Amino acid sequence: MAISSKTSTRTSAFIPLVLCLALFACHFKSGLAKGLQKGGHHRLPAPARNGVPPRRPAPIPGTLFNVLKFGAKPGNKMSQAQAFMKTWRAACDFNGIATVVVPRGVFTLGETIFQGPCRNPPQSPITVQIQGVMKAISDPSEYSDKSWISFEHVNGLVVTGPGTIDGSGPGVWKFNDCRSNNNCELLPASLYFNDVQNAKVRGLTSVNSMGFHMHITNSGNIRINGLRIYAPENSPNTDGMHISRSNGVRVSKTVIRTGDDCISIGQGATNVNISQVTCGPGHGISVGSLGKLPNELDVTGVSVRNCTMVGTTNGIRIKTWPASGPSRAAGFLFSNIVMDNVKFPIIIDQNYGTNSNKPSLVKISDITYEDIKGTAASPVAVNLDCSAGAPCSNLKFININLQPKINTMRLSGTCVNANVGYIGMQFPPPCLPPHP
Ligand SMILES: *[C@@H]1O[C@H](CO)[C@@H](O)[C@H](O)[C@H]1NC(C)=O
Ligand SMILES: *[C@@H]1O[C@H](CO)[C@@H](O)[C@H](O)[C@H]1NC(C)=O
Repeated sequence: MAISSKTSTRTSAFIPLVLCLALFACHFKSGLAKGLQKGGHHRLPAPARNGVPPRRPAPIPGTLFNVLKFGAKPGNKMSQAQAFMKTWRAACDFNGIATVVVPRGVFTLGETIFQGPCRNPPQSPITVQIQGVMKAISDPSEYSDKSWISFEHVNGLVVTGPGTIDGSGPGVWKFNDCRSNNNCELLPASLYFNDVQNAKVRGLTSVNSMGFHMHITNSGNIRINGLRIYAPENSPNTDGMHISRSNGVRVSKTVIRTGDDCISIGQGATNVNISQVTCGPGHGISVGSLGKLPNELDVTGVSVRNCTMVGTTNGIRIKTWPASGPSRAAGFLFSNIVMDNVKFPIIIDQNYGTNSNKPSLVKISDITYEDIKGTAASPVAVNLDCSAGAPCSNLKFININLQPKINTMRLSGTCVNANVGYIGMQFPPPCLPPHP
């Protein structure tokens, strides 16, 4: 409310009049709008959660497409997906700047596909502003594909909060059998980007995904900023983000607490930058697993900077399956990473997933670990288990300072088939002997 607290008693008589005029103006405006509105400033305060300051929706650009105007009913337990997809269709077919608005309220949704190509002009992304809660139907048979909410074949997209997508995972996690079955079907990802170019995702909260919280594939130039991604420590395969077959992905200022990898980077990912991400609980940041399938694409140019791992099982991990076809994992920088009570802070595992006497042929090279500091919760703080069929080359360790979480523990590093160079401080001490 824009009335200053200095208002004197003399002017207070005018307040009801001012209020009345303001209300009349609002009512008059909303009476004019039918289905489409010109965007204005929507300033609905969101409640503070976990001590993080509340976020406000940003101003809405262009013409507004509100899901309520297309029949979506908040609070209804049936899937509102048809109304959401109709809203998207109208925005996508609109030849101008369009914003889809999901207002406050809880919207139940089964499989929801936002498909392009759209008619938005180049340089004018379609915005989807989520103010309320999108809640998944808790029944795996509702989902024909590996996703709950997908964006496909879209060029120019902005998805913003401050709302929440709730995958209703607790009702379906029991159907995940990946602990006993290497070829298990993954449960649907909450937010799936397939062939999306030039997108930004920011200010959203994602909770309790069935499978991955976010899955990005066949995409390019994606910027992710300011997300909160939460699932319980014991939830199965709830990776915060999985990125594959994509070039140019940037993730920053995000908090990820899950039951599986914080961020996993799969085959065909190139030019991926991760910074100011806090992970934990979960399995840490990993490249891989690689080499499970035939003819996998290389992973190159990954940088992870200024990140913190809290109580994760792994810190920074590269994992490849044995008996793989040939590919490359090269040109990674891990810089300024704080490990807080992390079980295995630095790990390369080229015998991941299964036992085989055939080596992995994923060649790992040009990997720099720089300014890695903090505490380890188990004695093997550095474990470089590289492949006899494709030894790791040009690994660089620069200023490593890992201390045991428990005073009585001694940390060590082990290396197999690894060519490592050391510069600056080294705790634990360099592993010996390096591979010839
Ligand atoms: C990643 O960082 C590098 C080096 O700072 C920069 O050249 C590159 O453009 C960045 N890529 C993305 C996708 O942000
Ligand atoms: C990482 O932190 C350093 C030091 O605070 C800063 O100079 C640098 O810009 C940061 N880089 C990224 C990618 O956040």
